[in-house]
Amino acid sequence: MALFKKEHEAAFKELPRHIGIIMDGNGRWAKKRGLPRTAGHRKGADAFEKICRECNRLKIKEVTFYAFSTENWNRPKSEVQALMQLFHDFLIEAKTRLSETENIRVRFIGDRGVLDSGLIKLMDEAEADTAQRTGTLVNIAINYGGRQEIVYAVNKLIAAGRQNVTENDISENIYTSPDCDLIIRPSGEKRLSNFMLWQAAYSEFQYSRVLWPDFDEHDLHRALHEFENRNRRFGK
Ligand code: FPP
Repeated sequence: MALFKKEHEAAFKELPRHIGIIMDGNGRWAKKRGLPRTAGHRKGADAFEKICRECNRLKIKEVTFYAFSTENWNRPKSEVQALMQLFHDFLIEAKTRLSETENIRVRFIGDRGVLDSGLIKLMDEAEADTAQRTGTLVNIAINYGGRQEIVYAVNKLIAAGRQNVTENDISENIYTSPDCDLIIRPSGEKRLSNFMLWQAAYSEFQYSRVLWPDFDEHDLHRALHEFENRNRRFGK
């Protein structure tokens, strides 16, 4: 295993500009260990931090993490509360945990209107505190849905007086940059689950069986090596 992992540490010929990550498998990771699902989410937050650092080290421009979907409100109240608490705790600790030397910029995407006001304040502060940084832009999707994002962009354009819209208009008004080069989904599931529908038009997909809390730098490297060996034709 160690040998296999090592061969994925080689340099990369071509890196994706924008990566999307569906952090899946926290519940199964916890279940396998006889732990509550929230323990899986906590361990998942550690994996999130590790992958942010590695993306920044590799000079990836933008990474979008799917942390809480518009559909996740349908989970048991206790799990929703635990996830909100986790985001809250992360933001309290973020100043030291994703320190300035790392130069990571944080942005939240999704409809924050329904979130707790204390959490919104911390999100605003994290964005303001890191706005001038030039390292990896880390988008954290909370109360996010790909369909909701497209509706949001169209409504913005309508509010600005537009009566018809072009693809370019939508691309310029969604939350992230318009294209995502690589979407990574661990845990064995092979679906998009309403994640970055617009940005995924020409994304490459990488699936693996590793559960998100176990996902580490080597798993990221493996995904990146798969990506650089894909023949991207964009319909040509
Ligand atoms: C899906 O796995 C995961 C989630 C709904 C939550 C993802 C959130 C984190 C990893 C925390 C990230 C933290 C920060 C600070 C951004 P699942 O629970 O559906 O797993 P399962 O399919 O095995 O049940």
